[in-house]
Amino acid sequence: MAQAFDASAYGQAIADVYDDIYSAIIPEGSTASAVDRLQELAEGGPVLEFGIGTGRLALPLVKRGLTVVGIDGSTDMVDELRAKPGGEEIPVTMGDFATTRVPGEFSLVVLAVNTIYALPSQDAQIGCFRNAAAHLRPGGRFVVEAWVPDIASSWAGTALRLLVVGERRVLVEAARLSRADQMMHTTKIDMTADGLRLLPANHRYAWPAELDLMARLAGMEHEHRWADWCRTPFTDDSRAHVSVYRL
Ligand SMILES: C[S@@+](CC[C@H](N)C(=O)[O-])C[C@H]1O[C@@H](n2cnc3c(N)ncnc32)[C@H](O)[C@@H]1O
Repeated sequence: MAQAFDASAYGQAIADVYDDIYSAIIPEGSTASAVDRLQELAEGGPVLEFGIGTGRLALPLVKRGLTVVGIDGSTDMVDELRAKPGGEEIPVTMGDFATTRVPGEFSLVVLAVNTIYALPSQDAQIGCFRNAAAHLRPGGRFVVEAWVPDIASSWAGTALRLLVVGERRVLVEAARLSRADQMMHTTKIDMTADGLRLLPANHRYAWPAELDLMARLAGMEHEHRWADWCRTPFTDDSRAHVSVYRL
């Protein structure tokens, strides 16, 4: 049976292995490039990260002198952040980033690693764009990183992808597509010497153009779209995008 949407469920399954898994999946240097780009886009002003998680982006941004605060729905993920040097000092509000307000006005709101798709409906995603806009100073930016839907790759309805092949870890992702409601139900199967773990995550996916419309509804304009954090041009072949919206 499909896992119900619950902002804390993802963290319950993955928090203690999140950093290990993402450092294996994310292309080398991607986190460093993301931090470079986010620092530029913030122009020295305060940053709000939706889904701050274990602090993969927030901690290096703070090290570079930026003020960063976060919202997250998972105490398990935030406990991992708190256990790291400097992690206690970052203010985090627990809640749903589609609706939760925090005090302050920000230069940059960040939503990385496909987390926009963790919101279960178009309404919730529009709410998230509106919530980002409500936290921005005039001219402030909202940055969204997400994959580009590639439904042809799982046209049959299900697909199996090999994500990591290593001597100490093999990671496979099983996906089931519901095209009618733009849902991708996934379970990563993490195989290590400790055994096998199932890591479920559901995605309400959207094409970049739909996200652009959500930004417009929230009063923001599309400023940039890159294929990655290195500003690689976005083309027909791009499998992911980093999109920047401006209030
Ligand atoms: C893929 S992780 C990304 C963590 C971090 N931003 C990074 O780049 O490594 C997604 C994070 O978003 C949180 N999250 C997912 N849906 C949420 C929601 N609706 N409200 C608040 N947090 C949510 C999860 O708990 C998790 O910490």
